[in-house]
Amino acid sequence: MSQRSCLSVILAAGEGTRMKSAMPKVLHAIAGLPMVAHVVKAAEAAGATGLALVIGHGTEEMRKAAQKFAPKAETFVQETRLGTAHAVLAAREAISKGYDDILVMFGDTPLIDAEALATARQKLAEGAAVAVIGFRPPNPTGYGRLIEKGGRLVAIREEKDCSEAEKKIGFCNAGMMAVAGKHALRLLDKVGNSNAKGEFYLTDIVEIAGAEGLDVVATEASFENALGINNRAELAEAEAIWQARRRREAMLAGVTLIAPETVYFSHDTEIGADTIVEPNVWFGPGVQISTGVTIHAFSHLAGTTIAANCEVGPFARLRPGADLRKKAKVGNFCEVKQATVEEGAKVNHLTYIGDARVGAGANIGAGTITCNYDGFSKFFTDIGEGAFIGSNSSLVAPVTIGKGGYIASGSVITESVPDDALAFGRARQKTIPGKGKDCL
Ligand code: UD1
Ligand code: MG
Repeated sequence: MSQRSCLSVILAAGEGTRMKSAMPKVLHAIAGLPMVAHVVKAAEAAGATGLALVIGHGTEEMRKAAQKFAPKAETFVQETRLGTAHAVLAAREAISKGYDDILVMFGDTPLIDAEALATARQKLAEGAAVAVIGFRPPNPTGYGRLIEKGGRLVAIREEKDCSEAEKKIGFCNAGMMAVAGKHALRLLDKVGNSNAKGEFYLTDIVEIAGAEGLDVVATEASFENALGINNRAELAEAEAIWQARRRREAMLAGVTLIAPETVYFSHDTEIGADTIVEPNVWFGPGVQISTGVTIHAFSHLAGTTIAANCEVGPFARLRPGADLRKKAKVGNFCEVKQATVEEGAKVNHLTYIGDARVGAGANIGAGTITCNYDGFSKFFTDIGEGAFIGSNSSLVAPVTIGKGGYIASGSVITESVPDDALAFGRARQKTIPGKGKDCL
């Protein structure tokens, strides 16, 4: 199959009014990635070499977003929504380039997996002209029914056009299908709109192909594959299914999740074996975690790289650019942003490290703050290997603490400190005997 070329036509012209959103429906995210981008990923994983995105609502926003998640996709505007067959034909120019397989997919059906698509493509490779992806929903109301005779798919009937007997059929159209490229335009051009909704239905190509004596088949996918998103409740449902799949995949790959249902992954989270994630942890986009790491409860991470055997949290916030090298520790109520914490360094309590380097083996005392921002620009703090920063110190950037430098507790450091030096940056304590009781 791999040598067969394949164009994925993704229908995303719908307005999505039920989302009640200023943003096009298919740009709403699941695991931090627009739902239509999940569809693109599945198409690519199923071997699609070309991508045609049919848009119609929020076209500029859609084009801009597509440049990020599908830079190679061609976009086609369907000016008026006259039905799914009409929408596919908006991409006529792409289809006429002569692909072996055309995979029609919906931008609002993000949980479709590559395997279901590949199965449909396989049917084309075996000689079918059309392979429809079917499924058995718990409640078939509203879906097109797959009408089979003698093991062959003869028609798809939309709910509104079904007879009472046909409404009892539980095998439904997931919406997506694979069509042999050599037949696609001819079949689509034959579709009319004499049905209850007066729309040009993609599903009509099943009967049209059958009438031409072509082979039409149905494959079966799980319900999740066909879950279409129309409102934010369904968006949350899809998110939950996506997270459940990802958590299971992580656990089977050797990650311990103590309370899996409380851990949230992003579409691109990478996490190594023998890492333990305690309850209530959030992974935003761009997190890569190596092996043997412990992420304690209630930590929030994004744009972060963590090397082997680090320890993070509880209640740690690692923001974009945080880079923890082997065996580094970032403890409770610490925030790290755009900073490297080198091997074995410890940032354990109530600390902010931003725009900085913490050298290998350095120890950052409780309540240390790198003062990186003067209201206009950001400045860098460089803390050398093995340095010791006493508790409650402010390091006013730009500033360098040399290797083995020692900062006395409660210091405000505004000048760089050489290697191995001891620096105090605080007023000397004055003790007045007997004076305390006058103050009470
Ligand atoms: C469609 C199927 C139905 C199937 C169901 C599964 C048809 C005729 N019906 O019905 O058999 O059970 O999906 O969810 O295909 N779109 C456009 N332009 C249009 C019309 C639709 O881009 O002119 C897009 C929509 O944005 C959506 C997709 O096509 O992403 C499906 O359209 P929708 O109106 O949701 O079709 P259903 O009535 O759900
Ligand atoms: Mg629908």
